[in-house]
Amino acid sequence: MKFLKLFLFIAVISLSACKTAQNIVEQAQEPNLKEMQGGMWVPSELEGMNEMEMQILGSKLSAKDIYDTDAPSIKDAIVQFNGGCTAEIISGQGLILTNHHCGYGAIQSHSSVENDYLTDGFWAKDLSKELPNPGMVVTFVVSMENVTEQILTGTESLMGPELEKVMQANREKVKKQYNLSRDQKAVVKSFDHGNQFYLIVTEDYKDIRLVGAPPSSIGKFGADTDNWMWPRHSGDFSLFRIYADKNNNPAEYSEDNVPYKPKHFLPVSTDGVAEGDFTLVFGFPGRTDEYLPAVAIDQIVNKLNPDKIALREASLAIMDKYMRSDEKIKIQYASKFAGIANYWKKWIGESQGLTQTNAIEKKRAQEVEFQKIVNEEGLVEYQNLLADFDKLYQEYGEVTQARDYWIEVIYRNVELLNLTFQLYQLERVFEQKGQEAFDQEKTTFLKRAKGFYKNYNPQVDQEIFAKLMYMYDAKYATTKISEQGRKEKWKNEAAKIYKNSKLTTYEGLESILNGNNKNVLQELNKDAAYQLGESYAEKFYNELNPAYYTSKDKIDALQKTYSKAMQEVFPNRRFFPDANSTLRLTYGQVKGYEPRDGVYYMPVSYLDGVIEKYVPGDYEFDVSEKLQELYHKKDFGNYADTNAKMPVDFIGTNHTTGGNSGSPVLDAYGNLIGLNFDRVWEGTMSDYNYDADICRNIMVDARYILFIIDKYAGATHLIDEMTLVNPKK
Ligand code: ARG
Ligand code: GLU
Repeated sequence: MKFLKLFLFIAVISLSACKTAQNIVEQAQEPNLKEMQGGMWVPSELEGMNEMEMQILGSKLSAKDIYDTDAPSIKDAIVQFNGGCTAEIISGQGLILTNHHCGYGAIQSHSSVENDYLTDGFWAKDLSKELPNPGMVVTFVVSMENVTEQILTGTESLMGPELEKVMQANREKVKKQYNLSRDQKAVVKSFDHGNQFYLIVTEDYKDIRLVGAPPSSIGKFGADTDNWMWPRHSGDFSLFRIYADKNNNPAEYSEDNVPYKPKHFLPVSTDGVAEGDFTLVFGFPGRTDEYLPAVAIDQIVNKLNPDKIALREASLAIMDKYMRSDEKIKIQYASKFAGIANYWKKWIGESQGLTQTNAIEKKRAQEVEFQKIVNEEGLVEYQNLLADFDKLYQEYGEVTQARDYWIEVIYRNVELLNLTFQLYQLERVFEQKGQEAFDQEKTTFLKRAKGFYKNYNPQVDQEIFAKLMYMYDAKYATTKISEQGRKEKWKNEAAKIYKNSKLTTYEGLESILNGNNKNVLQELNKDAAYQLGESYAEKFYNELNPAYYTSKDKIDALQKTYSKAMQEVFPNRRFFPDANSTLRLTYGQVKGYEPRDGVYYMPVSYLDGVIEKYVPGDYEFDVSEKLQELYHKKDFGNYADTNAKMPVDFIGTNHTTGGNSGSPVLDAYGNLIGLNFDRVWEGTMSDYNYDADICRNIMVDARYILFIIDKYAGATHLIDEMTLVNPKK
């Protein structure tokens, strides 16, 4: 039934061919392009609604061009990159493109003081210079199939463990129907809050080598100040290559491996983009919650986000203070700072966006309508859904917040307490698996700890401890004490613990862990930091986590029913299953937006903006001499825009989220025109409430990528490997 509207659009389109007096009627029914944007669609189910919407928006592609299991299709060029991001194949020799921030760990791992690829960039001159990355994988999606009916067969009257048992048996049965090749895996994944199931066949390639990366002053230009912001000027890309064995099959790293020959690769378009152009983003979005009730959004905006933001803000302020006054601390804490700041900034934008677009009120209004229809149509099973949500979310809010505090303070921000939490797990290894397992774990633990202490400053951490433990205590403690008294208490506690604990240095940790085993645990349990950490670890496992999951299970069960109910009650609304790290597609248009009254943001940024933002020597806004020179000489090769300027980034209405980093942006013909890497601040609420008016994804223009590879790095052999096209010219 959700196709109803589209049939109307189609009717309108064919009617408009004959210019009759019906013009007025037709205009009233002109397809509303805005309504066709938003959504993360399942690639194996594009025929019908999605295919039509895309074509109305300007696409020339058929559903089968995008996803086909009988012939090569665009999906064969898209991979999940190392479990988190997305990457795409852009040559016949397995060359893949992803973000700089997705390749960051790998680039860092090959860097040293002499060869600082993060600072200077890296370009392999030929295949022999490409750098292997042990442990890295890319995952292809071989096929996705809706198997809901099979999974639910025979489950109609079952509940609880019985239901689980039958479903588990059905899962196994479904998987057995597939003839998997040696390297393929099949999983049954739940979609739409457990209302649908898909069988997904995947194939991993494990020899992935670093081919090229621009310097961070290009790849991460603007760093945290510009993160989640438009106008943006980063060239957030890096290049890798998939290697295979002689038969083109997956293989562990070997010198004998050869570049992978893809079924399909993306031609790169040099046409560029203009406002209104069709854009398609294809990748692996991690998680969205588009169908929450108003009460949940209210809780995020008014209860959960503010405290998480405040805790991170306190921690960031302390780090920032030390980073500004000490060069060594600046380097030690740069990556930690970026990690904490990323979601701190996102949550602020998210809350503002939800508030400014009246998301809560809009959801409430929808719920009134929902309830009205449920009552009118006598859908008794849905009668109490919303009231039940209101009740359950009371409890859920409390347990979630308590767990959030724990996670932010103990796990995310106070490094010493995070370390004690890991040591707590290590102690369990001894208890549960015995001495041999413990000894093994201990060795790896110490190895990892070396890396940790390299970037650890106990003075910074002590101050964060004092501040955040005070905030945690002020929220939950039952003892009555003045504000000032509580601050003093934690300051003193911090001083005592950081002075007495051996865990603030590697040598101290090693001296504890390298005794004989009886002593190890005794020694550990004598340590001041460990004693405190252990009590918090136990609180987490015995109290906070169980309470959270008990409550969450109830909410999830209700959300499953609500999701199904909404689709029945609003048959004309577009529903897409929430993101769950599976391959999805989202389409839209290149488009500017109005962040506030009287301000319009243009959709394309240029190299001029890089030069405008340039702050010599600054760690976020420095610009290399080479790039300045290219700019001043206007040495842009064939990559400039029609206005003779060098484009850098652009924005569009594609509905993306974390995990879409590195996703290709395709034009109407399936050519690569950009690389997704971020969203605009005002629109980060799209995880809960996509709004085509202000939700924008941010992409690097493919021409900037080509320009950097060609003119900046001189890696013309990589350009030669690609297929450049210009279908518009
Ligand atoms: N905001 C982007 C994302 O969510 C980019 C993050 C990396 N960049 C940074 N400056 N921290 O992952
Ligand atoms: N930077 C995000 C990522 O790493 C993508 C931005 C977003 O959340 O949309 O996946």
